[in-house]
Amino acid sequence: MSGLQMAAAVPCVSSSRWICKRGAAILGVDMKVASQSKLMSSYHISSGRHFSRTFTYTPAKFNKVATKAMSETTDKGVASGLPIDLKGKRAFIAGIADDNGYGWAIAKSLAAAGAEILVGTWVPALNIFETSLRRGKFDESRVLPDGSLMNITKVYPLDAVYDSLAEVPEDVKANKRYAGASNWTVQEVAESVKRDFGSIDILVHSLANGPEVTKPLLETSRNGYLAAISASSYSFVSLLKHFVPIMNPGGASVSLTYIASERIIPGYGGGMSSAKAALESDTKVLAFEVGRRHKIRVNTISAGPLRSRAAKAIGFIDMMIDYSLANAPLQKELLADEVGNAAAFLVSPLASAITGTIIYVDNGLHAMGVGVDSPIFHDLNIPKGDPKS
Ligand SMILES: NC(=O)c1ccc[n+]([C@@H]2O[C@H](COP(=O)([O-])OP(=O)(O)OC[C@H]3O[C@@H](n4cnc5c(N)ncnc54)[C@H](O)[C@@H]3O)[C@@H](O)[C@H]2O)c1
Repeated sequence: MSGLQMAAAVPCVSSSRWICKRGAAILGVDMKVASQSKLMSSYHISSGRHFSRTFTYTPAKFNKVATKAMSETTDKGVASGLPIDLKGKRAFIAGIADDNGYGWAIAKSLAAAGAEILVGTWVPALNIFETSLRRGKFDESRVLPDGSLMNITKVYPLDAVYDSLAEVPEDVKANKRYAGASNWTVQEVAESVKRDFGSIDILVHSLANGPEVTKPLLETSRNGYLAAISASSYSFVSLLKHFVPIMNPGGASVSLTYIASERIIPGYGGGMSSAKAALESDTKVLAFEVGRRHKIRVNTISAGPLRSRAAKAIGFIDMMIDYSLANAPLQKELLADEVGNAAAFLVSPLASAITGTIIYVDNGLHAMGVGVDSPIFHDLNIPKGDPKS
């Protein structure tokens, strides 16, 4: 039995502001593996393996202890500890278009635990994602804890705003960003996955879009508000509705939400806070509906700030990361891997009694009632983590 186990790893930093570089030597090995690996089709990425790893660290803002997933087996091939074992499970992850976001990190954790990975990529981002995969641009970040490379069995074009072809407006069909792709509505993607693989066990929703996210709610148009709900909340309802018929009993789904659903986060506008509140409420109702009818679990992860492509578009992500470092109970950078590992646990048999819930993976920030970096608390002598320790 192999599995994904949680272990304290060396301090490591990985966002664009805290950089963790693999040594050039091992990069060479990875690249060699990548060039040897042949694409089974334009959508298929084959796996590889490298044999040693060294890390060099650029000066970081501060060190921190990263929790990393690792596959670990004993000589007899039996995992020690309490493994997250997803061998034989197939996951469909909606919302991956690069290697920076939570979707990618979740894919890696599920793959490390043994799951087969299928991906749904937003149609306008499909070409660049596939090209980058094919050219090995993501090979460094495909490396799993055991040294192998994450294998993505197939990438499906997806636009989760449209349920079926009949609903797609003519101007979208004619749009050059959609030209050349087909079968990308939610219903068609579910049908394609059924045709290709028969069934799945795990559904991950890691997508959101709010065209007016930078506007305060009071200045948000009806269209902007409804677009945020459509892309960020109903998309989950639709995905679950269309994938449930091909999900095996005992299956699980997980989505990503944000604390702005329940607390005021100025700057997270355009109806995105409303969309996350809807997503969280739907998590409970859907947990009941698909739990009763199909024995499938539904949970959502309220994640802390990560410098993903979508978050950068909002414009205030660096401020939110700094705020979290200053105010969260755990004063360390939040790694995408930590969210990925929580997702792997949630969709695994270890979480077999957990459904309809919000799991906070945010260094504890959600629990704070005040911002302790306020000068008002100056005399309270609140312990502050030493950024250098
Ligand atoms: N980054 C953060 O700080 C943060 C914090 C909490 C929650 N989240 C949530 O995590 C999830 C993943 O976001 P991320 O921050 O990792 O960014 P990301 O850019 O990696 O992921 C967002 C994905 O959504 C896709 N997408 C947008 N519209 C789509 C559509 N109509 N159909 C299909 N795909 C579509 C994009 O192409 C992109 O791949 C989102 O739900 C986001 O709200 C992010």
